[in-house]
Amino acid sequence: MDTPADRDLTRTIDEDFPRVRRELERLIRIPSVSFPGFDPSTVEASAEETRRLLEASGMRTRILEVEGAPPPVLGRIDGPDGAPTVLLYAHHDVQPEGPLDLWDSLPYEPVERGGRIYGRGSSDDKAGIVIHAAAVRAWGASPPVGVTVFVEGEEESSSEHLPAFLDRYGDVLQADAVILADSGNWRPGEPALTTSLRGIVAVIVEVRTLDHAVHSGEYGGAVPDALTAICKTLAGLHDDRGNVAVPGLVQGDADALDLTDTDIRAWAGVRPGVTLLGEGSLTARMWRKAAISVLGIDAPRVQEASNQLVPVARAKVSMRIPPGQDPDQALEALEKHIEASAPWGAEVTVTPEASGQPYALDATGPAYDALRRAFTEAFGREPVDMGAGGSIPFLAAFAERFPKASLLLTGAADPTSNAHSENESVDVEDLRRSCLAEALFFRYLAGSVP
Ligand code: BES
Ligand code: MN
Repeated sequence: MDTPADRDLTRTIDEDFPRVRRELERLIRIPSVSFPGFDPSTVEASAEETRRLLEASGMRTRILEVEGAPPPVLGRIDGPDGAPTVLLYAHHDVQPEGPLDLWDSLPYEPVERGGRIYGRGSSDDKAGIVIHAAAVRAWGASPPVGVTVFVEGEEESSSEHLPAFLDRYGDVLQADAVILADSGNWRPGEPALTTSLRGIVAVIVEVRTLDHAVHSGEYGGAVPDALTAICKTLAGLHDDRGNVAVPGLVQGDADALDLTDTDIRAWAGVRPGVTLLGEGSLTARMWRKAAISVLGIDAPRVQEASNQLVPVARAKVSMRIPPGQDPDQALEALEKHIEASAPWGAEVTVTPEASGQPYALDATGPAYDALRRAFTEAFGREPVDMGAGGSIPFLAAFAERFPKASLLLTGAADPTSNAHSENESVDVEDLRRSCLAEALFFRYLAGSVP
């Protein structure tokens, strides 16, 4: 029998990798959008498929339940007596696919092009699921640490029920270290550990100028329309240089690393004459300062627009907030600023949506040492400590529930993965290296605990 020390994990992962790809492809085929208004049976199907593949990887599994919540999946395999326990997190729900004509291939039909697997959820976050399963399988029936896998079903729609799951199943989720495979690498082939995340607050802004629509020729010139008024209101969210204009928000700094404007422009597809927003290093702007974006506007469609002054318009405004920023205070500052920015005495109502906490991780200790060693070995280079601009709102709840556990944030995505957008993809080699890194991590974590 293999002992933990002599198991050839590189070879095991290589031999198993065709299966990893098949599993990822099978998950991508399930359109598990957790948003309200989408068919909930798809998220049940991805939970079942996740359960099946964890079970087939040697784990005892069950689907967890909390009234009204898309179901998460639990897997468990014991380690040797006294060995530490690792909790592995991923999510099996995905963002909606958006307009189909923007995709080069169908979102739920995985295809490989240029060393990447394309499809909704390929990187965010179905890759996380198959990485966990592969890392467990690499150890056969006897991993050197106890492993619990928890795969959530509503991350993309705010993790509303996660605290309830933590309350109900807190005992079985207890762990010494938690790997959250829902972030990504620095660049393709360049590994990273994510050490901070922004939080998120969002509001619906409604601007009303009239009781009812009126003829635009008859009244235009004297009577203000709500659509122009909301545009002016929203224009006040940034100053001329693109800095967030809401006063009183927390601003931090970050190591600039080797990130350039050229990288960001290429990855995000910024048009040639368009300038980037704000001042300070790119990393500070994207990880350690607030960002505000208008995500949508309710107004007449251009095609149906008639010669009327629009009486009322609505917009969804989202603000990312850096670690150290209290979401309630951020919300209050945003509301005040929006109200003060409305022109012409227009009536403004600002309605908050659910918010999520930012989080800065303590990236030190034996679990981090073990993970850094595992990444360095799997990728052939040391992982970069990076921040993330995105949000994983329940991280704070997790840290509160398990104060002694090390939280480790990884993932196979990279800046070219196009998460949440069309043509989402994951780099095949990074997927393989991520499986290997996680399998190695079990060895080094076990070895670090006497
Ligand atoms: N995987 C992302 C979070 C993320 C993005 C981490 C970029 C690191 C880098 C996650 O699935 C996500 O998109 N979260 C949502 C949370 C929201 C629904 C509250 C987000 O950030 O929009
Ligand atoms: Mn994700």
